[in-house]
Amino acid sequence: MARYSQEQIEEVRSRSDIVDVIGSYVRLKRSGSGYVGLCPFHNEKSPSFSVSPSRQMYKCFGCGVGGNVITFLMEYENYTFPEAMEHLAQRAGIELPKQELTSREKQQESLRASLLEVNKKAARYYYGVLKSSRGTLGYEYLRGRGLTDETILRFGLGYAGQGGGELYRYLKQEGYDDRILQESGLFKMEERGVYDKFWNRVMFPIMDVNNRVIGFGGRVMGDGKPKYLNSPETKIFDKSRNLFGLNYAKKGRHKNIILCEGYMDVIALHQAGFTNAVASLGTAFTEQQANLLRRYTSEVLLTYDSDGAGVKAAMRAIPILRRAGINGKVVHMEPYKDPDEFISNLGAKEFAQRMDKAQNSFFFEIQILEREYSMADPEQKTQFIHEMARKLLVFEDKIQRDNYQEALAAQYNIRIEDLKRLVIRYGNQMPEGYQEAMEDRNRRQRRGNSPEPEKGILYSYRLLLSWLIEEPELYGQIKDTITPQDFMDGQYRTVAELLYRQLEEGEVIPARIISHFQEAEEQNAVAAMFQTNLKGELTLPEREKAVNELVMKIKEYSLEKQTGQSTDLGELQRLIDQRKELQGRNKLHISLKDG
Ligand code: UTP
Ligand code: MN
Repeated sequence: MARYSQEQIEEVRSRSDIVDVIGSYVRLKRSGSGYVGLCPFHNEKSPSFSVSPSRQMYKCFGCGVGGNVITFLMEYENYTFPEAMEHLAQRAGIELPKQELTSREKQQESLRASLLEVNKKAARYYYGVLKSSRGTLGYEYLRGRGLTDETILRFGLGYAGQGGGELYRYLKQEGYDDRILQESGLFKMEERGVYDKFWNRVMFPIMDVNNRVIGFGGRVMGDGKPKYLNSPETKIFDKSRNLFGLNYAKKGRHKNIILCEGYMDVIALHQAGFTNAVASLGTAFTEQQANLLRRYTSEVLLTYDSDGAGVKAAMRAIPILRRAGINGKVVHMEPYKDPDEFISNLGAKEFAQRMDKAQNSFFFEIQILEREYSMADPEQKTQFIHEMARKLLVFEDKIQRDNYQEALAAQYNIRIEDLKRLVIRYGNQMPEGYQEAMEDRNRRQRRGNSPEPEKGILYSYRLLLSWLIEEPELYGQIKDTITPQDFMDGQYRTVAELLYRQLEEGEVIPARIISHFQEAEEQNAVAAMFQTNLKGELTLPEREKAVNELVMKIKEYSLEKQTGQSTDLGELQRLIDQRKELQGRNKLHISLKDG
């Protein structure tokens, strides 16, 4: 990845007005000192997406996304950091020097570009073959499955011929060397020679959200095995982060997105007018795919095959969707196996009706669970209800949980109070904040940050940082008590250092702090640090009390941690004294009224 200097990043960011840039994607309306619009990252009817010209940040109160102009493009266009930088630089007429890349990075960048080229050329090649006399077999196959010429063109479907080495010869002619071709995953390089990986198959190019071909699926025409052969993962093909058809489904505002299992399902659905269908890429649905979908919708209809494997896949996908904050529903396709078969037998209108009747995914889970028990046996029914009570804990919103409890109590003929009591009992067995803490920990482990402060303290850090941005006047009152060194987490400490410097200089630009970080995940984490608000409207005295407690909490934690880590006796004594002093004070007298 390219490494830009902080000056370059800052130049690009500051010369790319966030209102202009976002305004070219989202219709923005003036509102007070900022702008609002419909959030492009989730589906909504009334605007909760706001853009602040003074802070040069955006934020959605509905789905919680937020950041600066660079992160916006990264999220919206799925650009990498350097891609977003280049796009904005070009737009602003800034020349970005290329020598920032180390030679290894340069190689990686050009490898990526070459791989994209190779895949694009391969897709064109396969399409050309399909449309030529050599492709009759493939063409007839696709037409026989009901696809029109228009659909074939739209999805760029192709045919890999019988020869076994045609694509290789073609790409060699085009001047690509074996190393690139090897990395493309489209060939088998053996001692005896090089072979095309795909032959005698109809080809489905897989595109990313920016319409770039990143890999292929190839289907045998008939009953050969494997039915589908897919490109392996490569530098440009990450199966867990892409979805087939999303480049089209993301366009236009759909009420929801239809998630299917197969390429053919997506294509058949699009042809029938359901241009909001996507599929995973021959692998199980992943968390990253759910996060990707959340940018475009808040409701996903699952149309997994109604056979055993499909049900299993749906049962795995539902919790993933739920964790991503997406409302999942299950479309039943009986007596057909998948949307493609359904549509060719019953047509689009019937399918639309099934969509309307899509089942709540929680009820679907309960229904599948029920199959494991014989409800006529009181013992088994008891077990089932206990299991159901445990499952109800996924709903943290009390009203939502109540609604489910009522519905299920009625359905299984249980007294609502009994069910509620059971749920509470299981709830008490789980420590408070358990789930969130686990998730936080997993995220950190993935990032490789091992020492982990408790999640409560991180919340306090976020709250204080957000508060300082909202009310810079507070800074003067807390800076002697809380220094960046009091943030006992590397990332938070860096952010605090940057923010404190800005506060010292009297110019607070949170967007600049965000773009100090170059990895998308880091940027999102930092953007989130600036968007934490106290829940609910508080009166002035309540707010003062809150800020005092917050500062105390952060200081205490810091002193406690430092005491635990210190080995120097003198320093230890100093820390202990500070703690005593702090406890003795038990109030800091921070006032929010005036400076
Ligand atoms: P299905 O076996 O359900 O096939 O696989 P399908 O989509 O109905 O295909 P048709 O209608 O028979 O042509 C669903 C998806 O699972 C992956 C592919 O992504 C496929 O689209 N798959 C399936 C494989 O990767 N390899 C296989 O051998 C089979
Ligand atoms: Mn099928």
